[in-house]
Amino acid sequence: MGTAITANLTAIALLIASAAAYTNHTVGGDAGWFFESATNTSATDYSSWAANQTFSLGDYLIFKTNSNQTVIQTYNKTTYQNCDFDNASDNDTFQYGGGGEKFGEALTTVVALTIEGANYFFSSGGEDGVQCQHGMAFDIKVAHGAGLPPSLNQPPPPPYIEPPGPDSAQSPPGTVVIAQPPGSGGFGIGTDVRGGLCALLLLLLF
Ligand SMILES: *[C@@H]1O[C@H](CO)[C@@H](O)[C@H](O)[C@H]1NC(C)=O
Ligand SMILES: *[C@@H]1O[C@H](CO)[C@@H](O)[C@H](O)[C@H]1NC(C)=O
Ligand SMILES: *[C@@H]1O[C@H](CO)[C@@H](O)[C@H](O)[C@H]1NC(C)=O
Ligand SMILES: *[C@@H]1O[C@H](CO)[C@@H](O)[C@H](O)[C@H]1NC(C)=O
Ligand SMILES: *[C@@H]1O[C@H](CO)[C@@H](O)[C@H](O)[C@H]1NC(C)=O
Ligand SMILES: *[C@@H]1O[C@H](CO)[C@@H](O)[C@H](O)[C@H]1NC(C)=O
Ligand SMILES: *[C@@H]1O[C@H](CO)[C@@H](O)[C@H](O)[C@H]1NC(C)=O
Repeated sequence: MGTAITANLTAIALLIASAAAYTNHTVGGDAGWFFESATNTSATDYSSWAANQTFSLGDYLIFKTNSNQTVIQTYNKTTYQNCDFDNASDNDTFQYGGGGEKFGEALTTVVALTIEGANYFFSSGGEDGVQCQHGMAFDIKVAHGAGLPPSLNQPPPPPYIEPPGPDSAQSPPGTVVIAQPPGSGGFGIGTDVRGGLCALLLLLLF
């Protein structure tokens, strides 16, 4: 039993170490993330740019820009389509960078891709979402790929529940003890990365 656990943990460690390299995507390529307000045009076609890339968990988007543009990330399609995050909820929409006091200040904004599936990006710059409406917006689909690297996978610790049974007392140090909360139907699957990881550990341990 003990040997099996060690072997499995070693397998996990190897798996993590050999995980495929993650990709940094420079948004818009050489054109960067820019809007020309004199002509209402974006520096490039960001939707075409995005359509030509493959995105996976753990990848980064690098926005080479300046303080005239912002980067809004949302998982809510309505917020994206509105070009407006005024009524967005705190947990599905995030603003990066910005806050610059001056116009035109050079800025590099880095966004880690940590949730699988549809991710939407736009700039809230200009009056009434004018930048977003004129091309400063794109959506991507994030694939699972190699999964999140440990550096991006730091969920808050789960609530501690006293594990029943004699087995738990013998757990070697460092072993994750997983207790099922009473009444819970199981671990969350899907966008809940933590749940998936716990379920994986559970499978490997037993
Ligand atoms: C990708 O970007 C991240 C975040 O800025 C950085 O830590 C990492 O070194 C970059 N990787 C490569 C291969 O450039
Ligand atoms: C840019 O578009 C907005 C509407 O989205 C319009 O009000 C504004 O006049 C346009 N500016 C230019 C320079 O065309
Ligand atoms: C998409 O990628 C291919 C191959 O890298 C390239 O030839 C093509 O120009 C790209 N298209 C766009 C719109 O960037
Ligand atoms: C998405 O955002 C809009 C406002 O931008 C909000 O009305 C709606 O409830 C949100 N949807 C979800 C599923 O949170
Ligand atoms: C946000 O909510 C306010 C107040 O409910 C409403 O007046 C406004 O139209 C909403 N904006 C969007 C973009 O949905
Ligand atoms: C945001 O919170 C609501 C409930 O408060 C939940 O239904 C939704 O899945 C959450 N969204 C994200 C992206 O975590
Ligand atoms: C940034 O925006 C300001 C105000 O609209 C404009 O005067 C300036 O030329 C812009 N700078 C750059 C680098 O786009």
